[in-house]
Amino acid sequence: MADTLTLTPTGDRRTQYAELLPQLQGLVQGEPDRTANLANLAAALRQTFGFFWVGFYLVKDDQLVLGPFQGDIACTRIEHGQGVCGAAWAEATSQWVPDVDAFPGHIACSSLSRSEVVVPILVDDDVVAVLDVDSDQLDAFTEADIEGLQSVALLCAQFWTETH
Ligand code: SME
Repeated sequence: MADTLTLTPTGDRRTQYAELLPQLQGLVQGEPDRTANLANLAAALRQTFGFFWVGFYLVKDDQLVLGPFQGDIACTRIEHGQGVCGAAWAEATSQWVPDVDAFPGHIACSSLSRSEVVVPILVDDDVVAVLDVDSDQLDAFTEADIEGLQSVALLCAQFWTETH
């Protein structure tokens, strides 16, 4: 397992994700504990991009329950279809929210959060968790972020069934 992350300082966001992905794969490779992997992925994303909040909500019965995260304390449980996370779960699609105040039903865990991306993690067509990333800046995310974070969600799906 790599203990540091190395990125080209001059690289654009897309290049940074392309360089980061194999290092994230290395980070989770061979580790059977899902919580440990999710915790390191949240840390790696926040450490790399300086996001305000990065974390996972896990589907448990009929709710999303807070999982490993980096950032301020957050809402513990989210109902199906509620907020940006609940929408990503219900619709099984990524949610790209440039202005959280314009998203009906947005759940403000922190009043400092201004824009947000939530990407579902799908295993056998079922959403098992969502990856939630918040910024304290309006319109902070680009297409490169969506695609990069979807790649991280895919990585999670790959280790999901082999971990516990
Ligand atoms: N804003 C999210 C809730 C989770 S926090 O951002 C960590 C939502 O609307 O679902």
